[in-house]
Amino acid sequence: MKLTYLGHSVLVIEAGKVKAIVDPFIKGNELCKVRIEDLGNITHIFVTHGHGDHLGDTIEIAKKNNSIIIANHEISAYLGKYGLKTHSMHIGGRVKLDFGTVKMTNALHGSGISEGENMVYGGNPCGFIIEIEGKKVYHAGDTGLTYDMKLLEDEKIDVAFLPIGGNYTMDIEDAVKAAEFIKAKFVVPMHYDTFDIIKADPQVFKNKVKSSEVKILSINESMYV
Ligand code: NI
Ligand code: MN
Repeated sequence: MKLTYLGHSVLVIEAGKVKAIVDPFIKGNELCKVRIEDLGNITHIFVTHGHGDHLGDTIEIAKKNNSIIIANHEISAYLGKYGLKTHSMHIGGRVKLDFGTVKMTNALHGSGISEGENMVYGGNPCGFIIEIEGKKVYHAGDTGLTYDMKLLEDEKIDVAFLPIGGNYTMDIEDAVKAAEFIKAKFVVPMHYDTFDIIKADPQVFKNKVKSSEVKILSINESMYV
């Protein structure tokens, strides 16, 4: 399984015939050097919540590639109006799909979808545990620290992507606690440095985590598990 970090919370997962992207915030993401055209054939898009820096370019990418979008019921219904293919699920649910299994985990955050002057209800924010070819990736989405993360230890996660930027999500101190709860083999920090208010030093995070190996991925860097 190949995991590529494109800055903010954007993750590309490649395994077998699957090329999935999580939270495809490409165009407005100044850290992201990749263009939508460069992404290639995206088979699946995972959306953790409705905020613009996560829902991002989902509609354009899905239209271009006929991708299946996996999101909560409310976001799926919203995207369904655009004629896109969606798979709707909800917190705590696990499903077997053609490529592996997906579990939707809870996140402490918001999920409203900004549409001009209006805010469309986007249901509950979430994270995903995505298992393909026996490897498990956890993408936490945007979330505060929750003691529920302790339950994720039982999932035996290979790689956990955790936000560390603070203000909207966990900061480094809380993300260290989250990492200690989850005990993944590898932890990758995300959701930092995109905006001034979420500036954080991933090296500080790395030095504090004792329970897992922290892998700091630079923009467009890949790791293999
Ligand atoms: Ni958010
Ligand atoms: Mn965010």
